[in-house]
Amino acid sequence: MIFLIGYMGSGKSTVARELSDKLNMPYIEMDEAIEQQQDMSIPQIFNKYGEAHFRKLETDLLKSLQAPVIVSTGGGVILASENQEILKKGTVIFLDAAFETIDERLSNDQDRPLWTNNREENRQRYEKRLPIYRSLASHVIQVDHKETTVIINEVLNCL
Ligand code: S3P
Repeated sequence: MIFLIGYMGSGKSTVARELSDKLNMPYIEMDEAIEQQQDMSIPQIFNKYGEAHFRKLETDLLKSLQAPVIVSTGGGVILASENQEILKKGTVIFLDAAFETIDERLSNDQDRPLWTNNREENRQRYEKRLPIYRSLASHVIQVDHKETTVIINEVLNCL
């Protein structure tokens, strides 16, 4: 199993889709899969049931996945130790984007409940997670200022 991990807005979904084409391997976008399964958007799930419930849905989905598949994870999937154990069994690719890159990309984003209008809060969450992404990564790909095709080639080279 190939897991793409990284902060919100680091490009996991785009990379997973294109990688899936190149490798002729199915892919799953975890947020989309949860939305379809629950017939609710991510913000609706957070509003109605809270983050802890969403995290449980993420873990359940992660546990149900069967290889071979490329998994575009949600940015917070790395938080639960149960999830970390599952990730460690696969190849984990960390798409490493600077906070400034993410801040620019998500400036008007309304779809991510944990991306707030408070820049400092966003930065703190990012910095708290960074060492976790790094510690779980089999490979780290820097994505700042790079075209998707370049990123894909770098990912292919490390598989
Ligand atoms: C989250 C990231 C989102 C989504 C949810 C929570 C997070 O996924 O799972 O809004 O905690 O970082 P993306 O990383 O695909 O934006």
